[in-house]
Amino acid sequence: MAELSKWDAIYSRKSAEPTASFVLEQSQHLLPSQGDALDLACGQGGNALLLAKRGLTVSAWDNSSVAIEQLVESAKASSLSIDAKVRDVIQNPPKQDSLDVIVVSYFLDRALCPLLVKALRPKGLLLYQTYCQQKVQLQGPSNPEFLLKNNELLSLFSPMNVRVYREEALLGDLEQGWRNQALLVAER
Ligand SMILES: C[S@@+](CC[C@H](N)C(=O)[O-])C[C@H]1O[C@@H](n2cnc3c(N)ncnc32)[C@H](O)[C@@H]1O
Repeated sequence: MAELSKWDAIYSRKSAEPTASFVLEQSQHLLPSQGDALDLACGQGGNALLLAKRGLTVSAWDNSSVAIEQLVESAKASSLSIDAKVRDVIQNPPKQDSLDVIVVSYFLDRALCPLLVKALRPKGLLLYQTYCQQKVQLQGPSNPEFLLKNNELLSLFSPMNVRVYREEALLGDLEQGWRNQALLVAER
């Protein structure tokens, strides 16, 4: 039997229900009532499921076939329509001017970011959340390549209009707040 890839192996062991990212949960009121949305590097598709519940036309791409199979099952169980595809998003990024909403959680490929801006239609919305180098806990990746530097989401998406940004880093009472990650909602 062929060996499972890293992410296929992780998803094969995972039994928890997929959940949407904090940035999407908190920013639902900023979404358009209709349009084309993409959950990029979707994993089990918690973001995709929420976007579909909100009435958007949803695509979800990930290169783990195990995750995509699980998402297809979750969508079926909730009677939601999601176009879930096994797709390498670095080799096959979204086409220019093709989307109204892109959600990315816990995935970082810096070279892809300018293409995400271009993939949005005018006024399109990007919702992004991932781990920072300045962390309070050992959650998330340890390789700095996959961790955001100070203010990095702002610079990666500088051509866009920032609507929401949160990055608390190591400021103040570290027992409180929303730590370890940065989030951005930006409009093209
Ligand atoms: C940390 S998980 C995050 C999954 C999901 N976005 C979430 O918030 O739960 C990272 C995901 O990126 C996917 N991934 C990594 N490289 C990829 C690539 N080149 N193309 C598509 N998906 C990729 C992995 O399969 C994995 O599902």
